[in-house]
Amino acid sequence: MKIKGARVTIEDLRLDHVFQMSRWGKHDNPLLGDYNFPDLSAREVTKWYGMKVNSVFNKYFSIRNEDGELIGYMGIKDIKFIRRNSTLGIVLDPNYINKGYGTEILDTFLLYYFTEMKMRKMILEVAEFNKRAYRVYEKIGFRPVGYYLDEFYNHELDLSNPHYLEHKSSFVIDGKKIYNYIYKMVIEKKGFFSLRSKRETI
Ligand SMILES: CC(C)(COP(=O)(O)OP(=O)(O)OC[C@H]1O[C@@H](n2cnc3c(N)ncnc32)[C@H](O)[C@@H]1OP(=O)(O)O)[C@@H](O)C(=O)NCCC(=O)NCCS
Repeated sequence: MKIKGARVTIEDLRLDHVFQMSRWGKHDNPLLGDYNFPDLSAREVTKWYGMKVNSVFNKYFSIRNEDGELIGYMGIKDIKFIRRNSTLGIVLDPNYINKGYGTEILDTFLLYYFTEMKMRKMILEVAEFNKRAYRVYEKIGFRPVGYYLDEFYNHELDLSNPHYLEHKSSFVIDGKKIYNYIYKMVIEKKGFFSLRSKRETI
C-alpha cells in the first residue's frame, strides 16, 4: 500500500523504517518528551515494531517526504470493522515539525481512509497543551467532543520549566502525581469533505 500526497508518501510500516527512526531528533520541550523516539537496542527496536504490527486491530504507516527521508509514522488503532472507525496516532521527527507536513499527511490519509478504506469516523485524543497538534486537527475538520483529565506520562516533570509554566492551566498537580487535560476529537466523512472542498476554493 502506498498513498501519495503533493510532498509525502505514506506506506506500510516496515522494520527497517523503525531503525531509521532511532536517528531522529529530540524535542527540547519536556511536555513532548513522550513523542521522542526512545533510545533502543536492535533487539528492542524489533520488539517495538512487533508490538505495533502484531494486531489486526491496528495498522501502522511510515511517512516519507519529497526527498525520500523518513519523517514520521502514524497508526490507526482499535479499528472497528463493523462500525468503521478507528483512533489516530501520529508522530513526526522533531526536525520536520511545523513545515506543513502534518496537515498534508492527514489530508492525504483521510481521503484514502474515507474512500478506499470506506471508514466512517476517526477518533483521537490530544493534550490541551499540545496547541500545534490541536490546530492541525482543527484545520482538517476534527471537532472536540470530550474534555477530561488524564495522568501525565512523567510525574518527575520539572515544574519550573518555562514550557510547563506557559501551559500550567492545562495541568492539575495532586501530591506527587501530575495530570493534564485532554480533548477527545472526532471527524466524520461528511465533515472532512465539506471542509476540504472549502479549503480548495480559497
Ligand atoms: C502534531 C504534528 C503531527 C503536527 O504536524 P506539523 O507538520 O508539525 O504541523 P503543520 O506544520 O502541518 O501545522 C502546524 C499548525 O499549527 C500551528 N502552530 C504551531 N505552533 C503552534 C502553537 N504553539 N500554538 C498554536 N498553533 C501553533 C502552525 O501555525 C500551523 O497552523 P497554520 O497552518 O494555521 O499556520 C507534529 O507537530 C508532531 O509530530 N508533533 C509531536 C508529536 C505529537 O504531538 N503528536 C500528536 C499527538 S496528539
